[in-house]
Amino acid sequence: MALPEQFIQEVKMNNPIDSVMSGYANLIRRGRNAVCLCPFHSEKTPSCTVYLENNSFYCFGCGTGGDVVTFIMKIENLDYIEALKFLADRAGMTFPNEENDVRAGIPKARILEMNRAAARYFHDILKNSADGEKGRRYFAERQLLPKTITKYGLGYAPDDWHSLANFMHSQGYKDDELVTANLCDKGRNGGVYDRFRDRVMFPIIDLRGNVIAFGGRIIDGSGPKYLNSSDTPAFKKSMNLFSMNFAKRSDERRLILAEGYMDVISINQAGFENVVASLGTSLTQEQARLMSRYADEVIIAYDSDGAGQNATHKAINLLSAVGLKTRIIKMEGAKDPDEYIKKFGAPRFRQLLDKSAGAMEFEIAKCRSGLDISTEAGKVEYLKRCVKLFSEVASPIEREIYISRIADETKVHKEMLMQQVNGAIKKQINAEQKQQWADIRTFRDTMRSNPEAYKHPKEYKAETGVLAFIAAYPEDAEYVISKLSPEHFVTSFNKKVYEAIIEKTKKSAFYDILSLQSEFTADEMGKITEIAVNGKNVNIDRTTVDDLINILTEHKDDQPGADKLSDDDFRDYFKKLQSRK
Ligand code: UTP
Ligand code: MN
Repeated sequence: MALPEQFIQEVKMNNPIDSVMSGYANLIRRGRNAVCLCPFHSEKTPSCTVYLENNSFYCFGCGTGGDVVTFIMKIENLDYIEALKFLADRAGMTFPNEENDVRAGIPKARILEMNRAAARYFHDILKNSADGEKGRRYFAERQLLPKTITKYGLGYAPDDWHSLANFMHSQGYKDDELVTANLCDKGRNGGVYDRFRDRVMFPIIDLRGNVIAFGGRIIDGSGPKYLNSSDTPAFKKSMNLFSMNFAKRSDERRLILAEGYMDVISINQAGFENVVASLGTSLTQEQARLMSRYADEVIIAYDSDGAGQNATHKAINLLSAVGLKTRIIKMEGAKDPDEYIKKFGAPRFRQLLDKSAGAMEFEIAKCRSGLDISTEAGKVEYLKRCVKLFSEVASPIEREIYISRIADETKVHKEMLMQQVNGAIKKQINAEQKQQWADIRTFRDTMRSNPEAYKHPKEYKAETGVLAFIAAYPEDAEYVISKLSPEHFVTSFNKKVYEAIIEKTKKSAFYDILSLQSEFTADEMGKITEIAVNGKNVNIDRTTVDDLINILTEHKDDQPGADKLSDDDFRDYFKKLQSRK
């Protein structure tokens, strides 16, 4: 699909890279730039730089880089057009020809329309039909108020193989559409049958109010307790949260995260609008990121059983990784929030929220669990676990506080514990340095694996410099182009980039080297950004670029082979890149 260049520029303008990236990483402002832990590889010191002035980023650790569109392509795993759509959406812009978005032959809009019709149908049966009696009784037993049922649009799918299918056919929907929407399954003799039967129905609503999927809870039949829609062209489980459509309206900047649909609804009915749950799977990174857009802090209110506690531990890590503070409620006398509220009432649940402990207390308690710390062996194991836990705490002050606390508790010298923790930290740093050396080696090998550059390092440097110059001074591109033709390039990649630039300048006044995505893969864009980023600090101007051009135009291919870069040269070069943060 060809998109107007102007539209693409507007999408970029409306999506400043720092605001987009801060949904995925914690940006720290450094002068005109910002840095963060690279979201594309695992690291402990930030080597990903965000250039605010030209809306781009580059990671010195793994070489990933590009502009805001490349970033979204990589992190959301989308193609170029999808990434633009994603960003247009984010900025509230209308994408040209959105109704042409057809995957699997059935447009997303059609599926949303079917889901809405089905949700109305299930809701109507629950409220008004004789068939809905079973569902009404069930929700009454679970003490849901009529206004809650209406608010969540809850429903009932009758105990029948064709009730929804018949209704949807009467509305003009075809079998293959019902299957794609995951409302029906294909029967053995052609035809389709209802996927949800004899279940109370929980519609899943996205942030814009679309019904994107369903969860259905069994009442007394057989099969899984909850049956959920699989992913469809209109639904991606891992990217949505139940009840986020309500929670986003609360301006508390604090969310409650529960495990199940019924917990969410109970908590919401008890007066807490800011509660969400994942959708039939454990929490995902995308869901954590989604939460971080609406909150600074998440209170985890998972079930009190072992599974719930393990899930809590995982959720703390995922949520912390996107910069969210976490607190954990400690429930006693009930297995989940739904039961707790019924047994003890909403005010007691609020107290639970207010008393919720920080993540560290939860983790320390977890270290202690299963151990008898009045015995020597128990105490040693407990301290070992704590040392490991504390060595991962970034702030020295926080570390000291925790160490003091555990020293008091176990009657062990604080200094000794401190030493142990510092030792563990040192070990981690060593491991990181090792990793860095491995990075240097990979970098060198990539360089050597480009025989063209290896053979003509001087020309390679010159052409890379020319590209960097054009990236920094797009207004001078015409000048370079008038003096240098692509034939003078020694590496095919740089040549391809240069040719693409020539094409761009012919076509558009908006030319910018980072807007070449439509011609290059995300990885190639990384290389291009690297060139642009490194060029910034080299200070090439009109005179020096003439020298570079001369090197290239005077170059004859039969020149003797080039000098080799030694390991030390590579290390220096790599260090130089790193120090430019
Ligand atoms: P729970 O079994 O704790 O269910 O599963 P619940 O929400 O508390 O429901 P009630 O109170 O027993 O009615 C928690 C969540 O795990 C998913 C659902 O999202 C559920 O809300 N789940 C559970 C499934 O997807 N399938 C299952 O079979 C069970
Ligand atoms: Mn539960």
